[in-house]
Amino acid sequence: MRQGSNSHSGFFVVFEGPDGGGKTTQSGRLFAHLEKLNYEVKWTREPGGTALADLIRKVVLHDTTHEISPRVEALLLSAARSQHVEEVIRPALQAGRVVVCDRFKYSTVAYQGGGSGLNVADLDGLNEFATDGLDADLVILLDIDPAEGLSRKLRLVGAGESETNKMELRGIKYQERVRRRFRMMASESPDRWLIIDGTGEADEIGDEISRRVMKELESRSIAPASASTGRLI
Ligand code: TYD
Repeated sequence: MRQGSNSHSGFFVVFEGPDGGGKTTQSGRLFAHLEKLNYEVKWTREPGGTALADLIRKVVLHDTTHEISPRVEALLLSAARSQHVEEVIRPALQAGRVVVCDRFKYSTVAYQGGGSGLNVADLDGLNEFATDGLDADLVILLDIDPAEGLSRKLRLVGAGESETNKMELRGIKYQERVRRRFRMMASESPDRWLIIDGTGEADEIGDEISRRVMKELESRSIAPASASTGRLI
């Protein structure tokens, strides 16, 4: 039995979606917005977020010398995630911070489940184990047609602002299955997920995300550091 460790005094917001939907731009923007308002915020990403998890990221996304099966991929990503949760995410949440994370366990369900065809119930169990039951308070799905997402991503690569990874080379059909699985997760938990059309105008998307996050913070009485009295951060 897990310890039921979803209790914390912070706020955990995750950005998810197919490649090229603008997660990194929008998560960075939310981070900057909250920092400006004096919230205690941690901006992080997966795979990665700690030194060990960054090593695993390199192996899973860029190493071409080893054949990695979908199962091993799921296990490596889960190991990285577990380290990230223990070392970075949970301590920040327990200190009352806002954690903004670019991808989390939902990507494993979408990519290794939807994309590669691993059993989703198995992946749910693996996620539960790796995170010790941690769920996001809010998941923002930047939804985009994979063809559009991949061509956007390739433009960034061409401009030297990003690099391709192994997942993006798996083709449109793979990416379409990934997208379907993300949308399925969102429709199953509409209170936790906010679906946003990733092709919209960046400023408008940013404003919509900020409005929703501010509403969630207010409903939990999470205030900026300077406005809090007697709260240890
Ligand atoms: P991302 O950081 O969004 O890509 P980039 O920095 O290249 O823009 O994501 C890395 C890739 O890893 C992305 O294609 C999705 C994939 N991924 C999985 O397949 N499973 C997972 O559990 C995670 C977290 C990511």
